[in-house]
Amino acid sequence: MPAAVRRRIEERAEAVGFPALKRAAAEISAAYREGRPVHAGSPAHTAAYLVTRMPATYAAAYAALREVRERVGAVKSVLDIGAGTGGASLAARAWFPDAALTLIERDPKRVEAAREWLPEAAVAIEDLNRIGVLPPHDLVLAAYSLGEMGRFPAARLWLAARVALVAIEPGTPRGFALIRGLRQELLGAGARMIAPCPAETPCPMAEPDWCHFAARVERSSLHRRIKEAELGYEDEKFSYIAVGREPVALPAWRIIRHPQHRPGLIAIETCTAAGLRSERVSRRDGERFRAARKAAWGDGGIS
Ligand SMILES: C[S@@+](CC[C@H](N)C(=O)[O-])C[C@H]1O[C@@H](n2cnc3c(N)ncnc32)[C@H](O)[C@@H]1O
Repeated sequence: MPAAVRRRIEERAEAVGFPALKRAAAEISAAYREGRPVHAGSPAHTAAYLVTRMPATYAAAYAALREVRERVGAVKSVLDIGAGTGGASLAARAWFPDAALTLIERDPKRVEAAREWLPEAAVAIEDLNRIGVLPPHDLVLAAYSLGEMGRFPAARLWLAARVALVAIEPGTPRGFALIRGLRQELLGAGARMIAPCPAETPCPMAEPDWCHFAARVERSSLHRRIKEAELGYEDEKFSYIAVGREPVALPAWRIIRHPQHRPGLIAIETCTAAGLRSERVSRRDGERFRAARKAAWGDGGIS
């Protein structure tokens, strides 16, 4: 996240005080684990969300939007649904610096925070379910918000997306189930795949497994203190889908979990147009082994 935003978050957190911040962060973590809506509640809850969750939603959105930038190119406008404190919009601004941003968010406290780092954005403090037709934008973005919406608005979101639609949810079985349902609905409505899938065929992932990815998030020292964590980073797990109006070149495969490294052997699991594939690459494979050593979860490739 931009350094100026991180600094402002620290200042807001200091104003709340550590004990209240820690209590609010514990409540937010519990809600997140149980798949309940994370309410902003008090200033302490908003500050705790900013310290412990927004860097993670930013990182997931940044990773998903990279795919849109690379495969589709620049967009001129972005509509962020359930924009919260603006984490996903900040990621959109990083990839599409010239795009006009519109945020829809029902919680005024979160909007107030988002306005601080996105002063140029148009903001509607509104419940999505009360808006009839969404204003068309090139890119419609729903990050960690669809799971909180009672009536699922997939068709309405797609109608508003002139170029592309991106939805991100927690990388849990529940989050993935939502993304998979959305994928099916959107492809059925004629949407074309952008990422992460290498094909538009039915999703080959079978329960109890679920498709998700990880984005590395640097933890601030305050974040570490709140979580009583040793590590200076955490990996945010997320499931996502990006679809567009026009076909784009898709990768032939995508790595769907951390490659497993053993002495002289690397096991890689990928999703391909022909289904899921498990591959073992040994040192004897020479060039392929050298390439496999660099391969990472989430990478896509052409051959
Ligand atoms: C977990 S937060 C995610 C915020 C943000 N998108 C991010 O990536 O950091 C989900 C947000 O969706 C908002 N939300 C949920 N249902 C909504 C609705 N029906 N209309 C507008 N906003 C909604 C909540 O108020 C909350 O701020």
